[in-house]
Amino acid sequence: MRAVVFDRYTDLTGLELRDVAGPTPAPGEVVIEVAAAGLNPFDWHMYRGEPWIMRASEGWRVRSPRVVGADVAGTVTRVGEGVSRLAIGDRVFGSIGFGALAEQAVTDVRGLARIDDSVSALDAAATPMAGLTALQALRDAAAMAEGERVLVWGASGGVGHFAVQIARALGAGRVDAVASAERADFLLCLGADRVHDRSREVPASAGPYDVVIDTVGTQSVPQLRPLLAPGARVVTVGSLSRERLLGPATKLLSRTVAGAVHRVTTKGMFAAVRAADLDTLARWLSDGTIRPEIEQVYSFAQFADALATLERGHVRGKLVVEIGGDER
Ligand SMILES: NC(=O)c1ccc[n+]([C@@H]2O[C@H](COP(=O)([O-])OP(=O)(O)OC[C@H]3O[C@@H](n4cnc5c(N)ncnc54)[C@H](OP(=O)(O)O)[C@@H]3O)[C@@H](O)[C@H]2O)c1
Repeated sequence: MRAVVFDRYTDLTGLELRDVAGPTPAPGEVVIEVAAAGLNPFDWHMYRGEPWIMRASEGWRVRSPRVVGADVAGTVTRVGEGVSRLAIGDRVFGSIGFGALAEQAVTDVRGLARIDDSVSALDAAATPMAGLTALQALRDAAAMAEGERVLVWGASGGVGHFAVQIARALGAGRVDAVASAERADFLLCLGADRVHDRSREVPASAGPYDVVIDTVGTQSVPQLRPLLAPGARVVTVGSLSRERLLGPATKLLSRTVAGAVHRVTTKGMFAAVRAADLDTLARWLSDGTIRPEIEQVYSFAQFADALATLERGHVRGKLVVEIGGDER
């Protein structure tokens, strides 16, 4: 089967679409025929090995070939011993860490959920990591309550555009967004009440907000403070920082310290792949509660163009690579 492989930490030039052996499922795993793979900044962090701190968990060197891509949608073709939750022929989606940019992927069944026939493979592949992050940032990290006022900073990207829609689904009283001005109409269509131009200061009169979901980390705590209601929670999901040693961890640390000084509740979060949350996203995709915005669909052969666009960091919603022949 063909897969996009790297043998060492590398920029785009070290990625190769080549033939590799097809996977065999271990106990508890399934093999999927991949229909589509959704892209996330996580993917380039993994093949670049940056920030370097992540090599503590991923390995200081790449010891055997790895296949790029976390988010996947496709059809189960083989099941390993002890798998009863999924069966051959099930259409599934999930976030599997490595291995999505391939004709077949193998993964633990606990990281997958079924999708029904009304959901396209492209929409399913666009959803897992960004959707899980937005859901867990709002529901778990921010503990958002119905009626609260939410501000999503960096709202036009993968996580941000799901956060706008999921805040609505969870009953937010108001959902405002910060994004580049040309993306305002898109975010208003997704359910934002108001969109602030990210090139201007957001006036204090726009607030107060009970919850801020921040995917870019461009503001300091003192800059955010006038926008916050008493008891507000600022959840830092990510940062634009390309600092090579610690990456977003630097922003998280400085926000935590500044939060303590300025008496603002700041939180970081790492999304967890949970089948129950994937089931929720699958239901919302099916009933139209959430709608992934896909800026562009690429063919498998165009994977490098797709990843180059991802790395530039101004994607409107999501990028998806179509791998197989799922016509839905
Ligand atoms: N904590 C976790 O578990 C977790 C999970 C997923 C992602 N993340 C992280 O969260 C961040 C966002 O992920 P994503 O998938 O949403 O990325 P994305 O799709 O690439 O979105 C990035 C956003 O950044 C905005 N942006 C780019 N340059 C900007 C600037 N100079 N000022 C303000 N905004 C700017 C873009 O908006 P414009 O187009 O308007 O510039 C876009 O909306 C990344 O750092 C990612 O690594 C963390």
